[in-house]
Amino acid sequence: MRNLNEETITQAVLARNIDMKDRRLREIMTSLIQHLHAFARETRLTEAEWAAGIRFLTEVGQTCSPTRQEFILLSDTLGLSTLVTAQNHRKPQGCTEATVFGPFYVDDAPEYELGADVGNGMAGQPCFVSGQVRGISGEAIPGAKLEVWQADSEGFYDVQLAQGHVQGRGTLVADATGHFHFKSIVAESYPIPHDGPVGRMLDAMGRHPWRPAHLHFMVSAPGYETLVTHVFREGGEYLDSDAVFGVRSSLIADWVEHAAGTTPDGDQSATPFYTLDFDFVLNPATDQTRRKP
Ligand code: BEZ
Ligand code: FE
Repeated sequence: MRNLNEETITQAVLARNIDMKDRRLREIMTSLIQHLHAFARETRLTEAEWAAGIRFLTEVGQTCSPTRQEFILLSDTLGLSTLVTAQNHRKPQGCTEATVFGPFYVDDAPEYELGADVGNGMAGQPCFVSGQVRGISGEAIPGAKLEVWQADSEGFYDVQLAQGHVQGRGTLVADATGHFHFKSIVAESYPIPHDGPVGRMLDAMGRHPWRPAHLHFMVSAPGYETLVTHVFREGGEYLDSDAVFGVRSSLIADWVEHAAGTTPDGDQSATPFYTLDFDFVLNPATDQTRRKP
């Protein structure tokens, strides 16, 4: 195959795919090549622009570290993560909707008893979170596992700070009636990390990096599809301009403010505190949905 030109290059590349043994890989690579070439044709991509794109992707890779996943930020800010989440988690009406995973989940977060302070000393206004995990038919899911993670009041996750101890994340197990409760701090809106290439991309595109205030959950139980989601704060900023397109109306809840006084755990709070009550409804598992994302 020689003398390839604008008209013949795409077919020539696709022709090389026929020996690929893995059929799914062949399907993906064929589509990727077709769309990449169509993109270059449609935009009449110049060599300088191609080189700028290569430099940008190189910087994205170079910015990645064990605590910084710039490619996930890129996927999130381009809406790809929300698209992939949506098409892989179509659920019956009544199930809690999934949303983006984000880059700040950590495996094996510390286990806490129900009622414990998952903030673990994180600065912020106290928030008492409670709810129930149920199935679509209304059945309680005893022993459902809830993994929760959140940013501090300045908008940083523990893994972004070099303070070396776990804060604002934990694992809890719902009781025999599927109920759970824990203490943490009130979530605040925060910007996604924007001091790298994705931040510069957003800036060049005239976009802000902010996310509306939210609390992350991963809820799992045998026989049910694992749910990765957030609960957002009603009335907060950026609900309609989330930098990563993760907001769903059904996930917005009232975080109720209370004057200083007796808290749900019977203690006295000298400062105002919040409560959040939110139930999760899980979808029965299919073979496709048993795995973690
Ligand atoms: C997060 O909510 O933790 C998050 C999601 C997407 C990108 C950055 C952060
Ligand atoms: Fe977050």
